Amino acid sequence: MAAASVQPVEWLGDRIRVLDQTRLPGAERSFVCRTPAQVADAIRSLAVRGAPLLGIVAGYGMAIAATGSKARSVAQLQRDLDKAGDLLIRSRPTAVNVRWAVERVLETTRTAAERRSRPATVESVRRAAVAEAMAIAREDRESCRAIGLFGRELVPQGANVLHHCNTGALATGGAGTAQSVITAAHRAGKKIHVWVDETRPVLQGARLTAWELGKLGVPMTLVADSAAGSLMSRGLVDMIVVGADRIAANGDVANKIGTYSLAVLARHHGVPFYVAAPLSTVDPDTRTGKDIVIEERNAKEVVAPMGMAIAPRGTRAANPAFDVTPARLIAAIITDRGVARAPYRTSLRRLEAQG
Ligand code: MRU
Repeated sequence: MAAASVQPVEWLGDRIRVLDQTRLPGAERSFVCRTPAQVADAIRSLAVRGAPLLGIVAGYGMAIAATGSKARSVAQLQRDLDKAGDLLIRSRPTAVNVRWAVERVLETTRTAAERRSRPATVESVRRAAVAEAMAIAREDRESCRAIGLFGRELVPQGANVLHHCNTGALATGGAGTAQSVITAAHRAGKKIHVWVDETRPVLQGARLTAWELGKLGVPMTLVADSAAGSLMSRGLVDMIVVGADRIAANGDVANKIGTYSLAVLARHHGVPFYVAAPLSTVDPDTRTGKDIVIEERNAKEVVAPMGMAIAPRGTRAANPAFDVTPARLIAAIITDRGVARAPYRTSLRRLEAQG
């Protein structure tokens, strides 16, 4: 499978096919989700992951709820959709794109149901749900492209770029967020090199980003997470770019655990630290990073990553999946509508208003 054609999820009319990312890079296996509960399971298990992709999959989860509902009335269909939405929102709490997508589909179906010109039917509301889910996926492809074009301007010629987690085609509906910045700079002939960190505990960097960048032919070197400080102290990192799972109204950013440590190191060494994300990842209802719920995942991911025990049996472990980087450590937030700089409360709101 060429990275350009990586398709982490595919809509099949009343169900989705999902590429099982937990098995990459060893095996390229996919499976089908036919119910919202199966979609929620796929999200929880990390078979699908990455904030924008989670939004797309949640949208499809709602479309599946609509097409699979046995409702005989629009009101009953709406209740089925509300139930599916609750389930999907609870599947992973930190990435705001899940809630954003669920609410988008619900809003669309409510509007379709309340339309006065031609009375709504169960079928017309179903169609509205499916169309909205497909629009979410389509728009994300364009968002990724825009992020790449805005972001590549910030990448110096010949830069060594450090990247965390996985933010490419596997995590979005297009070329990625932070990874789109990287590939756009590469394609623009900037002769960059990427330090790909492993991203413990479940190695999205080593398993997924190295896989994707390798296929795309972007020069890269895999390093252990703990090598970042040493690389920076030796002048071997010119910039860092990461994605985001939720951006608070003040510009604080929740992203994969380890992001905060990188931002602190970057500040210490004078390395610019950038975040790349679509505006759908900005949550105006979350005032600051303190209000972001951090998902605590199963400790097994720490003591036995990929099923291989690396700690004595019975070792107690904690597994916060994300951390929060305060806005003051972020040089800029690269969005699909332009580059936001501090103060983020104003700059993000301005970009939002452009929409
Ligand atoms: O737990 P994951 O793999 O879903 O975490 C993914 C990340 O933290 C990404 O950096 C983030 O979603 C931005 S992706 C485009």
